[in-house]
Amino acid sequence: MDFVVLLGPPGAGKGTQAKLLAQELGIPHVSSGDLFRDNLARKTELGLLAKSFMDRGDLVPDDVTVRMVIDRIGHPDCEAGVILDGFPRTLGQAVALDDALVAAGRCVSVAPLIQVPDDVLMDRLTARRICRQCGAVFNLVSNPPEVPGVCGECQGELYQRDDDNSETVRNRLYTYYRDTAPLIGYYFARKLLVEVDGQQSIDDVQTALVAAVRSMPGDCQ
Ligand code: AP5
Ligand code: MG
Ligand code: ZN
Repeated sequence: MDFVVLLGPPGAGKGTQAKLLAQELGIPHVSSGDLFRDNLARKTELGLLAKSFMDRGDLVPDDVTVRMVIDRIGHPDCEAGVILDGFPRTLGQAVALDDALVAAGRCVSVAPLIQVPDDVLMDRLTARRICRQCGAVFNLVSNPPEVPGVCGECQGELYQRDDDNSETVRNRLYTYYRDTAPLIGYYFARKLLVEVDGQQSIDDVQTALVAAVRSMPGDCQ
């Protein structure tokens, strides 16, 4: 297994599943959205630039995004494989990733697409809560914390993402269909796409995802 590219609309469960898959496969989970939010928390120039796009539900420009992710996946912990969550998100990013991987003798092994209908996505995102300390993801409806407002894993404070309001979610969905959905064809044509029903329970989605990942050869021929 080399690079796993998790595809799916906002709220499909990419982050939730990537974390579990990372434990299962013993390789890191790299989320472009988390990298931007981490930069923002540290008030870096990149974080402040990204915020203006993220708050509107628009994509951060390809050049800065590609540079940030290619730099991260060059770290030694990524040598045995990586689960990419939220990247690539445009055809330009997908080509840039392939170019960088070919140059390094590496490849995308599989691109699982987590499918969930739009109305469910809207409900999921407006009910999402995240731990400020450890990043654990909860949902007020489908996966509530035992104590309201408190992370069950580390007792940290739960917060709502600035872009999880209905207006921004609508634009994130629009942006997904315009810019990111074309990647479904891109990976289908390379025989790397595997569809997974994202409307099952979190555990059942994970079982289907692990089976999908293991069904692919995983070597870079
Ligand atoms: P990013 O952070 O990647 O957000 P996103 O793609 O909109 O995806 P989400 O994180 O909202 O959803 P998810 O699929 O991870 O779902 P989750 O597991 O949390 O990007 C944010 C912004 O950063 C972008 O808008 C853009 O501005 C910028 N950006 C990031 N990457 C970029 C790139 N490559 N290029 C340019 N700009 C970029 O689950 C959602 C909720 O559902 C949770 O509450 C969870 O508990 C619940 N849930 C999960 N699974 C289930 C289930 N099976 N059943 C019921 N509930 C479930
Ligand atoms: Mg996410
Ligand atoms: Zn926590």
